[in-house]
Amino acid sequence: MYEKIDEKDLTIYRFLVENSDRNINYVVECPQTKEALIIDPLDNNTIENIINDNNLIPKMVINTHAHPDHIAGNSYFLEKYGIKLRAHDICKKIFDYDFDNIFENDILSFGKLSAKILHTPGHCPEHISIIINDYILCGDTIFSCGVGNVKFRGDVSMLFRTIQHKMKNLPETFKLLPGHDYFENNIGFLKSILLKGTDFYNEVDKLLSQNDKNILSPIKNIDFEKKYNPFFRIDEFSFMDLIKENEKFSGLNMEERFKELREMRDQW
Ligand SMILES: [Fe+2]
Repeated sequence: MYEKIDEKDLTIYRFLVENSDRNINYVVECPQTKEALIIDPLDNNTIENIINDNNLIPKMVINTHAHPDHIAGNSYFLEKYGIKLRAHDICKKIFDYDFDNIFENDILSFGKLSAKILHTPGHCPEHISIIINDYILCGDTIFSCGVGNVKFRGDVSMLFRTIQHKMKNLPETFKLLPGHDYFENNIGFLKSILLKGTDFYNEVDKLLSQNDKNILSPIKNIDFEKKYNPFFRIDEFSFMDLIKENEKFSGLNMEERFKELREMRDQW
């Protein structure tokens, strides 16, 4: 089962992989030419169904980063369709097979569409995000109401800079296509750190109670993240007022607050 999102010049297919990490796989199509990109393939069978059901012509596989759950299907699709893999240059230290490197601001064409690359390190050094029209495939950099961990080759200072200087500057209408569906846990964490009794707490509580974790959570935009993603708001004094143990953050600069919040999320 997969979801098909039809936009005027763009079709996105997405589905929740049936694993404990709740990976989301994506295929992006230019509907005029049927040419398609495969992003971070993990569930090869469902991606094959998407390709066959919709008569797609795969053009390339792109990896947002080289963690095992984002690259597992690479070889299958490269061999089956004779297409290229694109990933950040840093992956040459990791992959033992050929790929074409990509860098910040590269534009990759497929059909009549183009995909612009942003280098978004932090979760790991090679992490990229992919902008297609007003969608951003952001891998494990941002999840709805959260950010990626920094446990496996990550760097929290780099992640802070990526969120603060790149992701927060994207247009508010940009829609996020993250690599995992962690909305339920992230909104639960947010609720756990908030003071009870504020309007904001009640809104967050409502979001949590209305969420159905058995289905893919709805797509959110940057505007939503600016309100409900604590990692987007950690620099705001007004947000500090909404947090229960805000003394943990007093005297810390913005980057230190971000690190403290990441540690609180790790321990939650
Ligand atoms: Fe990852």
